[in-house]
Amino acid sequence: MKKVLLVYKSNTGFTKKYANWIKEELSCTSVELKDVQFDDLSKYDIIIFGGGMHANKINGIKFIKSNLELFKNKHIIVFATGATPASAVEVVRKFEDSNIPEGSNIPFFYFQSGMNYKDMRVNDKMMMNCLKLVLKAKKDKDSVEQGTMDAISNSYDNSDRIFIKPLIDHVRGLLA
Ligand SMILES: Cc1cc2nc3c(=O)[nH]c(=O)nc-3n(C[C@H](O)[C@H](O)[C@H](O)COP(=O)(O)O)c2cc1C
Repeated sequence: MKKVLLVYKSNTGFTKKYANWIKEELSCTSVELKDVQFDDLSKYDIIIFGGGMHANKINGIKFIKSNLELFKNKHIIVFATGATPASAVEVVRKFEDSNIPEGSNIPFFYFQSGMNYKDMRVNDKMMMNCLKLVLKAKKDKDSVEQGTMDAISNSYDNSDRIFIKPLIDHVRGLLA
């Protein structure tokens, strides 16, 4: 039986929530990125990594990018959570293109989440407030700018367990 490890990095709780749902479905081990024991990784055949989008970069993706050699005989899967609606397929494709190492064939899954100002780091809150001011001041906003403004204005949670199904199906296919 193949062993699955789920590693995640979550600043405001959304990726952690998705990680917990995935863990429940797959009955796998999960660990926060900061607690990963590199000596233990050899025990696992499948490693799933998840992080939140942070200015178009997947939080913690360095864990995958820096360890491609170590992971070469394993199945690696990456997921990201973000405020962008999953229906914005071009934006989500750019997340994949700019974060998943070229030629690695690592499957990428994207789950819409939300914004959590309560648990946000001070620097991130400042960054979002600047972006809000810039967008608010802009006249004749295009649909992307208006959509971004709507997506970052307040705290909200659009996470849904149903979004993880394609990832779960993919992993179950590897386990079969
Ligand atoms: C500073 C900052 C930058 C963000 N950048 C993006 C982004 O580029 N694209 C996106 O879709 N969501 C973006 N978001 C929303 C987060 O990706 C979303 O809340 C994510 O689920 C956070 O995951 P976490 O709570 O596990 O850290 C950003 C949020 C913050 C605070």
